[in-house]
Amino acid sequence: MSKIVGLLVGRENTFPGPFIETVNRKGAAQGVSAELAVLGGTRELELPRYRVIVDRISHEVPYYRAHLKSAALMGTVVVNDPFWWEADEKFFECTLARMLGVAVPKTVVLPNKSYISDINDQSLRNLKYPLDWDDILSYVGLPAILKPNTGGGWKDVYRVDSKQDLLWAYDQSGGLSPGHRPKTMILQEFIKWEDYIRCICIGRTNILPIRYDPTAPFADRYVVSRPVDGELRDRAVHDARALVDALGYDMDTVEFAVRDGTLYAIDFLNPAPDFDSFSIKEDNFNWVLEKMSDLVIAYANGTALPPWRGEHRWWKHVRT
Ligand SMILES: Nc1ncnc2c1ncn2[C@@H]1O[C@H](COP(=O)(O)OP(=O)(O)OP(=O)(O)O)[C@@H](O)[C@H]1O
Ligand SMILES: [Mg+2]
Repeated sequence: MSKIVGLLVGRENTFPGPFIETVNRKGAAQGVSAELAVLGGTRELELPRYRVIVDRISHEVPYYRAHLKSAALMGTVVVNDPFWWEADEKFFECTLARMLGVAVPKTVVLPNKSYISDINDQSLRNLKYPLDWDDILSYVGLPAILKPNTGGGWKDVYRVDSKQDLLWAYDQSGGLSPGHRPKTMILQEFIKWEDYIRCICIGRTNILPIRYDPTAPFADRYVVSRPVDGELRDRAVHDARALVDALGYDMDTVEFAVRDGTLYAIDFLNPAPDFDSFSIKEDNFNWVLEKMSDLVIAYANGTALPPWRGEHRWWKHVRT
């Protein structure tokens, strides 16, 4: 396999060109090059064209995911691990964070509000019904956040201030509108924050904390005029590193709400994080280009191995 890095992208426009140029410039002397990946109709034992694929969109294009799993088995390094990304969920991550000693809001995962039509009462005999909403609310408190167990883009994220609000929002998750599938939701203590930080995390050790204002319009949320420094920065770096290292994500963002000086991890399931120059701003964008290009060049050269290589049982039965 020649040392080609392929990039899979969705609608984003500012990251792909500069990323490919940076890898081509820095990798040329070592024979590493980058291009937009071109895929279609993969065969089982097809020799992969790419030694590394940076995957920014397989959560939306299932064929890419299928290709990436097979390509990984055939020796391609995929950023991020397609097997783990597919399995990961926000509720699992909350339990993991607690076990790692990272603060998270009190969280409960809820049974779906409804199901596709073939599922009936017989199928649901293991479910407690009705749910004890008062008990659930006595744990997480009010206000609370109801949001999907997997998902992004602030879709179906509800702040609820009363039991009535909660039941209304929960009903919305049942796929009421045409084309919407029922979703599994988590209910979470609302953290009344005094400060907010987002960390861009690359290669599991490079952590860039940036002040973030979730109340601003999308393009103004990354606040570069007030850098995160001192002890707050140290703690953000420490906790973000603990999370991405355990999860094995080479590309992620980890978001913290700060309340009474404690950093609560709010969302760290972002394996295709926003890299657009207009939202993360120029200096952070340049940092991303440097760290991402170093990462993929090391993978392409074989001087680094992805953390998940060899982790599944079937690796032992094949030779790559
Ligand atoms: N427990 C919470 N307490 C306070 N605010 C919260 C909480 N959960 C979510 N939020 C707010 O809602 C926003 C969206 O939530 P979250 O990040 O979990 O959803 P998402 O769809 O994954 O978003 P993104 O696309 O930005 O990753 C957060 O940026 C935060 O401002
Ligand atoms: Mg997210």
